[in-house]
Amino acid sequence: MTYYVGIDLGTSAVKLLLMDEQGEIASVVSREYPLDFPHPGWSEQRPQDWWDAVCDGIPELIAGIDASCVAGIGAGGQMHGLVALDKDDNVIRPAILWNDGRTQKQTEYLNNVIGREKLSACTANIAFAGFTAPKLLWMRENEPENFAKIAKIMLPKDYINYKLTGVHCCDYSDASGMLLLDVEHKCWSREMMDVCGLTESQMPGLFESWETVGTLLPDVAAKLGLCESVKVCAGAGDNAAAAVGCGVVGEGGCNISLGTSGTVFMTSTHFGVDKANALHSFDHADGGYHLMGCILSAASCNKWWMEEILKTTDFAGEQKDITKEMLGKNDVYYLPYLMGERSPHNDPAARGAFIGLRMDTTREQMTQAVLEGVAFAIRDCVEIARAQGISIPSSRICGGGAKSPLWRQILADVLGIPLELPVTEQGPGYGGAMLAAVTCGKYESVAQCAQKLVHVSSVTHPDPETAKAYDARYAVWHALYQALKPNFKQMEAIQA
Ligand code: XUL
Repeated sequence: MTYYVGIDLGTSAVKLLLMDEQGEIASVVSREYPLDFPHPGWSEQRPQDWWDAVCDGIPELIAGIDASCVAGIGAGGQMHGLVALDKDDNVIRPAILWNDGRTQKQTEYLNNVIGREKLSACTANIAFAGFTAPKLLWMRENEPENFAKIAKIMLPKDYINYKLTGVHCCDYSDASGMLLLDVEHKCWSREMMDVCGLTESQMPGLFESWETVGTLLPDVAAKLGLCESVKVCAGAGDNAAAAVGCGVVGEGGCNISLGTSGTVFMTSTHFGVDKANALHSFDHADGGYHLMGCILSAASCNKWWMEEILKTTDFAGEQKDITKEMLGKNDVYYLPYLMGERSPHNDPAARGAFIGLRMDTTREQMTQAVLEGVAFAIRDCVEIARAQGISIPSSRICGGGAKSPLWRQILADVLGIPLELPVTEQGPGYGGAMLAAVTCGKYESVAQCAQKLVHVSSVTHPDPETAKAYDARYAVWHALYQALKPNFKQMEAIQA
């Protein structure tokens, strides 16, 4: 039996997955690491913590098998994070993550001074706070001594691939979120490197997700208990890896992820940009393309509400009294902007809110409002796609939030489409292992691998009456951000 390791380098933890050649999951191991908010709206992690977690987890992952049967490793990682290395490949400063909102000024400079047209022509995207290029500008402005030391930049999962193989690499799907890649032509954009004060020698080498970047360094192989011949593929951004893991490849597919972030991922075999650049236009890990909307706080809203506010870890227990009859009838509204918002508002100053509270409001209504608020924010992304003429007749769904049948039902009702849950819910990790299987030659292509390995376990259908009720509530919810936007700005101005 041959095995493949999938790495899902997430924001709260790394999830490692061992897949056998039939696509069965042999084991899953997870290791958490800290997430630092050194300043309101900032979000950082230490790349060394990611690497330690991987090194600590892999021996446990492969404990039950003959390690010489592991043939390949593939990673899906949190996107956009800036990892900067000096000339000796030491990490210069903590990584600035995808949900970090410090770059408002640099984002505005890129969109308004360099100009959206130029950005879109060079990269197929405009600047969003959280993308990598604005972070480089922030570093140049605020930490010039650190910026001057940069010998190489890369993204989070590329740091793991570098530690595994010694190769500075990046795949096209993840590189798309840097605002430094010409997404259509799959090469670094010279104009954007100039804007950010970088040269091509500071950029990692580009690969397709399923291509082999190298084999394990001898000391790393010994440390992990694996053979030096293990092939490491370039891997993918976590959303592209999740789409692969859910079988969403080729033309016209959709995958929704309810993880720390929430994403709507729409695939195409053709390059395309939405007219307002409201959706991200990125390369896909199958060699094609995708459009994506991303909300910054999805399952993390529920985690915050449960753990920080209600002080419980019994998520299912809190949801059990929210019956089907209660859906579409909640008068409490929740805005999920705990980290500001990316799609569609591009507004780091946006904040979370409960609205519509009364003296008889219950704990269940507030929990329900959190799940609904996230579903409405996902609908905001879907509506942009629909306005572009993209049809989404159904979607796959994955991520921690997808485990809740109630949340799946709410989302199906809010979007008015059936949601298909794959047998394995391990989106990015499973996708990473699938990419590893392709790099090892087990499958001819990512599409063939997906067709052979991914199956749907259940479908959640929308209820037409509830969907209608949610339409009216979505209209109310949708207007709330616009109404509160000036207040969010004022709140930011006087923030402690
Ligand atoms: C996508 C994005 C997030 C992170 C989460 O653009 O920023 O989904 O990749 O890990």
